[in-house]
Amino acid sequence: MTIRVCVAGATGWAGSALSLGIAQATDMELVAAVSRTHAGKTLGSVIHFDDLLAPVHATVAEVIAYKPDVLVEYTKPDVAKVHVVAALEGGAHVVVGTSGLTDDDYREIDEVAQSAGRGVLAAGNFAITAVLLQKFAEAAARYVPQWEIIDYADAGKEDVPSGTVRELVNRLSRVRPPHKEVAIESLQGPQESRGAELDGTQVHSVRLPGYTLSVDAIFGMPDQRLILRHEAGASAEPYVEGALLAIRKVSGLVGVHRGLATVMEM
Ligand SMILES: NC(=O)c1ccc[n+]([C@@H]2O[C@H](COP(=O)([O-])OP(=O)(O)OC[C@H]3O[C@@H](n4cnc5c(N)ncnc54)[C@H](OP(=O)(O)O)[C@@H]3O)[C@@H](O)[C@H]2O)c1
Repeated sequence: MTIRVCVAGATGWAGSALSLGIAQATDMELVAAVSRTHAGKTLGSVIHFDDLLAPVHATVAEVIAYKPDVLVEYTKPDVAKVHVVAALEGGAHVVVGTSGLTDDDYREIDEVAQSAGRGVLAAGNFAITAVLLQKFAEAAARYVPQWEIIDYADAGKEDVPSGTVRELVNRLSRVRPPHKEVAIESLQGPQESRGAELDGTQVHSVRLPGYTLSVDAIFGMPDQRLILRHEAGASAEPYVEGALLAIRKVSGLVGVHRGLATVMEM
């Protein structure tokens, strides 16, 4: 059966690469796309792939009329929740790639998804090596009680920390809280220099030109250290395969599920 897909943010950096991936997949069809700037055009004329005739509309409400099985949300954190809720209420399952949604946002989305009987698969990072970092970090946290995370991205990235890191610390918190030798309140000097505490983990975000997205998960024990590092290059290619897998799997879910690892066999 062909999966009917709409992509919100289909003209963006991540959404256009995914749209080309969907166009080339034999088991899915891109039926419509969302972008305010290019509404009224075909997606192919915007992203230079003439065979892609999916119409572009300005809102998620308009593309829901195409009755997609799955809507992919790849826009901006400030509108993503509204898009996801509209898609669920319109009967679609949703794959969320947009970063910056909070745990509270996902709790609200989960309520809507549960009552609609639809699935939401949200992944802060669809790259396979980022998913592997998550899994290896979870294993490390079982044996090493202390860790911190460094989150690197380009200077223009507005949401902090990255969705990749939000998801990682959330998963680590389910293993156990990291041990802290000196409580943050007992520090001498500016507490901010120890980073932000998220789900119990200290997170340090670096925003500089030259980075696309990298994560260091550093685990320390007396006289030994483990550093797990994921690095992404400049293209959106790493995110396509994982997002296609999410589109294939999301219709088997109900409610919110976070992280691509939840549907990968490992
Ligand atoms: N999960 C992952 O693996 C992964 C990978 C890469 C990126 N991301 C995340 O995905 C998101 C998008 O990143 P990007 O770099 O692709 O951004 P981008 O290049 O700026 O593209 C944003 C897209 O969203 C559309 N858009 C923006 N605001 C909108 C609105 N209010 N209503 C409808 N459409 C809107 C834009 O079109 P118009 O401006 O024409 O409306 C454009 O098509 C970010 O949160 C990023 O962190 C996640």
